[in-house]
Amino acid sequence: MLFMVKMRRILVFLLLALAILFTPARTQTQSQVQKSSPTNVDKRVDALLSRMTLQEKLTLIGGMHNFFTRPIPRLGIPSLKMSDGPLGVHDYGPTTAYPAGIALAASWNTDLAQRVGVSMGRDARARGVNIVLAPALNIYRAPMNGRNFEYFGEDPYLASRMAVSVVEGIQSQNVIATVKHFVANNMEYDRHHINAVVDERTLREIYLPAFEAAVREAHVGAVMDSYNLVNGQHMTQNAHLNIDILKHEWGFDGILMSDWGATYDGIAAANAGLDLEMPSARYMTPANLVPAIQQGKVSVATINDKVRRILRKAIQFGFFDRDQTDRSIPLYDQRGREIAREEARESIVLLKNDGNLLPLDPTKLKTIAVLGPDAYPAVIGGGGSSQTTPFNQVSFLEGISNYLSPPVNPFNDTVLAGMGEHVGFNAKVLYAPLSAKGTLDPKMEPLLSTADAVILCVGFNPDTEGEGADRTFSLPAGQDDLIRQVAALNKNVILVITAGGAVDMTRWIDRVPTILQAWYPGEEGGDALADILFGDFSPSGKLPASFERRWEDNPTFHSYYPQRDKSVAYSEGIFLGYRYYDRSNTKPLFPFGFGLSYTRFQYSDLSISPREGSDPDSVTVSFDVKNVGSRAGAEVAELYVGDSHSTVPRPVKELKGFARVFLRPGEKKQITLTLNRRSFSYYDVKNKQWTAEPGPFSILVGGSSAQIELTGSFTLTK
Ligand code: BGC
Repeated sequence: MLFMVKMRRILVFLLLALAILFTPARTQTQSQVQKSSPTNVDKRVDALLSRMTLQEKLTLIGGMHNFFTRPIPRLGIPSLKMSDGPLGVHDYGPTTAYPAGIALAASWNTDLAQRVGVSMGRDARARGVNIVLAPALNIYRAPMNGRNFEYFGEDPYLASRMAVSVVEGIQSQNVIATVKHFVANNMEYDRHHINAVVDERTLREIYLPAFEAAVREAHVGAVMDSYNLVNGQHMTQNAHLNIDILKHEWGFDGILMSDWGATYDGIAAANAGLDLEMPSARYMTPANLVPAIQQGKVSVATINDKVRRILRKAIQFGFFDRDQTDRSIPLYDQRGREIAREEARESIVLLKNDGNLLPLDPTKLKTIAVLGPDAYPAVIGGGGSSQTTPFNQVSFLEGISNYLSPPVNPFNDTVLAGMGEHVGFNAKVLYAPLSAKGTLDPKMEPLLSTADAVILCVGFNPDTEGEGADRTFSLPAGQDDLIRQVAALNKNVILVITAGGAVDMTRWIDRVPTILQAWYPGEEGGDALADILFGDFSPSGKLPASFERRWEDNPTFHSYYPQRDKSVAYSEGIFLGYRYYDRSNTKPLFPFGFGLSYTRFQYSDLSISPREGSDPDSVTVSFDVKNVGSRAGAEVAELYVGDSHSTVPRPVKELKGFARVFLRPGEKKQITLTLNRRSFSYYDVKNKQWTAEPGPFSILVGGSSAQIELTGSFTLTK
């Protein structure tokens, strides 16, 4: 009997050993690592937590070496590696530099946003990065905010859809995304001290929805608290926003980290929901917290909750079970380049095109002049922590030149591979460098007046627009004069603007026939611009923010900068951007959602079902869009909902759906969008809930917020 038991034990042992030996090592390719089930995760977290000393727990809640969490080797707890975004995963050498967040929003393409997220996730895995500090979700309030370029524009619905897609994309690669900067970090001026005074309804309807969607729909793994104060409390000490809303109401179970140096009081932050102080523990230290725990000012349960959150995400994302570095993904990734180019191409907005100067016919061009401070070298992004160094970058000058006269192989005179399609154009590309002061060389003036077209590239760069300071509304010094000077020499000026938002165009808007908003187009921007200039691709980007004519026209004009103390009262409330212009006599220069195309689209056959009903969760809105022009192109169709019967003031209309559709000439497609109760609701502050009041709502469909093509209604009966 004893012999039998022994034999059985030996057999089991042998089988186990064989199983371990022959279980294939997990391959490290994309998105195939299974997330552990919540129960297993919790069990593993509990087991680890029960073995940790208080000192070890406190070790875990502060970072090190700028972008890492601290490991605990005794328990096998790994150090988590972070990298900045949102324009590229760039803290560990060259990488793909994508267009800016505002550019992505201008594409209104959620599928593209998801693929951009996947690509960033791959970039992260190739570099062993566990946590990417992206996407950035603050709302565009005024054009001067130095970081508008990183964000998704003025509308909470558009920003939410972009946020969900990017987060899902990044996290599909088993990399944690971090939405930032929570919340009301809408200016860079004095960002450590600015106190954003925002009423609850405005927070709920304008500034919070993108974060809420990232948490509730995309289950984002991390959130970053911003530097500023909201309603008198630094965000890292703001229990109402961090605990009541983010963690309790939205059910956020991930890591709430501070922005770099945004913790100001260790005990207050510990009690207000901050889980991880970055870049290192300066305030949430054992020296501060151990006595606080002993004196009952901070509970051990509070510390446990922070540790739990960090361990939970690390286990859930597989960081305990595999190497985060996926060597099957190339560091220099051609797929990333393609996505960056597609993104840039879809994001460029054609603002003005008098006399259909664009597209240019490359077969008819003899001389094309390219100049301006943003023509060469490439300006791919704004300044600050998002700044990304790519392996290669294509300036506007190079993109245009490569298109018209592709580089030739020096050894056998053949056109280099991949460029062959455009061989045969005779156009000469004339580059007119500016003086150190940014002025035009008088010698170039004749060389310019005879060109068939002038591509004048103006705008900002990382020194003039970026993190840590606000920028001017007007273009950098001298550029207005340059535009006027060039426009006086040549009537075919195509102005390309590199900027994170609107600029003051009043001094020259009537003198240039064609204007393109290129945002910050990333490493492939030059090729993307050429695709558009020469008609290979019809522009399809639409503005994610209203462009005011004069700064005085912006609803935040009186409140954007603090008056006496450091407080900024968001006195425009929910009436920001088009929500303001819709009810004002002042109209923007270019409205939210606007962008021209090389073709024309016709909208028809709006149908709403049910037309009347009590269940707003099943409202579908269908309509047809037809390409009635002569070129293929994509249209972004926008769906707005208006409520004029409400008991509280509401905007004339609000964006609640959109779709991007590609159509060949003559082609027609039906678009179906779905609305839910939230689409009809406002935030009822008294009852602390979203409320849709019964009655008729207008359903408005069109090509911009100022160009409604189809109008219908839906009556909510309860
Ligand atoms: C920025 C964050 C960034 C962090 C780390 C901060 O200055 O505000 O967006 O992720 O630095 O570089």
